[in-house]
This record gives sequence, C-alpha cells and structure tokens, in this order.
Amino acid sequence: EVRRLSAPDIRSRKGGEPIVALTAYHAHTARIADASCDVILVGDSLGMVMHGLESTVPVTLDMMILQAQAVMRGSRRALVVVDMPFGSYEASREEAFHSCVRVMKETGCGAVKLEGGRRMAETIRFLVERGIPVMAHIGLTPQSINVLGGFRAQGREEADWGPIEDDARAVAEAGAFAMVIEAVAEPLARKITAEVPCPTIGIGASPACDGQVLVMEDMLGLTPRVPKFVKRFGDLGPGIAAAIEAYASEVRARTFPGPEHTYAMKKPAK
Ligand code: KIV
Ligand code: NA
Repeated sequence: EVRRLSAPDIRSRKGGEPIVALTAYHAHTARIADASCDVILVGDSLGMVMHGLESTVPVTLDMMILQAQAVMRGSRRALVVVDMPFGSYEASREEAFHSCVRVMKETGCGAVKLEGGRRMAETIRFLVERGIPVMAHIGLTPQSINVLGGFRAQGREEADWGPIEDDARAVAEAGAFAMVIEAVAEPLARKITAEVPCPTIGIGASPACDGQVLVMEDMLGLTPRVPKFVKRFGDLGPGIAAAIEAYASEVRARTFPGPEHTYAMKKPAK
C-alpha cells in the first residue's frame, strides 16, 4: 500500500531534494507520471492542450473536476494539485471556499492551486484555516492574459522586483504550502526562493527554485509552439504519426486485422 504524498510532505522539502512536478489530465498519463513525480498538477493549461482554446480563461470548474477525477484514478503516490479556473475563486474568499470544496469533495485531490499574490493572500489564509491546502502561483499569471496583453517574462528589470517579492512574501505568510513561480528572471527567482519559508516550484524561473514543473505535452514534444523555458525531453509526435500512418495503410490494405486479432467460431461440442 503506497501512501500518497501530502501538502505538508511537499512543504517539508524546502531547500532539500528538488521537487518534481508535472501536469497530467488523464488517467493513463497520470499513471506514467506517478512513477517519477512528487506532484501531479491538473493544470488549467488543459484548456489549451486538450481543448485547443486560445487561453485558460474559458476553462470551467466542471472541466477541471472531470480531468482531476481521471488523474486521481490513475495515480497512487504523487500529491495531486488541481488548478482553480478563472472566475471560480477571485470574487470573494467565500466563493473561493465553495469552489475549492467542490474540487476536493468531487475529486479527492490533496491540494488546489490559484493564481495571484498579495491580492489573493486573504483568500489563501481563509482557505488554509478551513482545511484546504493551497499552492500559490505568482510571476506570470496566465489567467490575467487579457489585462497583461501578452505572455512576457517578469522581473527582468530590478525596478520591477518589489511587487513580485511582495507577492511571494504575502502568499507564504498567508499559509501557502508551496508556490509556482512562472517566467521570472533568475536572480529574482533565486532571491525569492532564499526569502520564503515554503518551496518555490519554478516554470521558467531558473534552477534556483526548490522544484520544477512543466506541462507534460510540452516536454514530450506534442505541442506545436512552446515558450523559451520548455525543454523538449521527448519528441513523441513523429512516433505517434508513424503508428497512425501504419494503422491507416494496413486498414486500407486489409492486412489489419490479421488472424491473430480475429475471432474464429468455437469448435462444435462432440
Ligand atoms: O496550468 C498549468 O499547467 C500550470 C503550470 C504550467 C504551472 O499552471
Ligand atoms: Na495553470
């Protein structure tokens, strides 16, 4: 019987062996990720990756819950963290609580993640005090794309550091057990990691962070365009295309299915 990692288990990894996090949206990919990862994130990036949406803004709570249920069924050991989608938690701490309770009750996940620094600190405290472990997400926050006007790295000029450092301190003080830092210049990510008591999980935020996260399809080479911070650890697209081409040509040539894939009649009883 494998015990699942908890939010406090991940919290206690501050400054230790790097935390390995990866997204998954399905039972089968969750099963594969579970073998090597500490945290599986059911990210709202599923809107773009699975559904072909232009941003994460249209993603709904129902979409998140459906995929999180699949990921929980497919995994046993990793802490499963579920993204709270745009519009499900920002208006008030009570709204956030009710949305998070739905996610936790309907999926059994161990934690939620939400975007925002100081502006979400009061909500994070409210949730944590009521039994909901929260991973924060600061730096580039993709749900704010329509306000930001584009995806751009943060903190590349020292004059911009103050608000991002304040965000990091605020979510840590509010009780976040970890924080994702997205697309932040290395020296700032390093400074924040040294300053806050909880682990920082970087995506485009340098190796100085206490852990790393990537979108699985990006690192497998399955998505067409990827940001600078993605390393393609695999190139699975051509392998999948070759398998499907082989299937199509065997179907057209009637060489698939072969006798070994075909049911014969039972031998009649004597
Ligand atoms: O939605 C997502 O996949 C994320 C990670 C990239 C951090 O939030
Ligand atoms: Na996300």
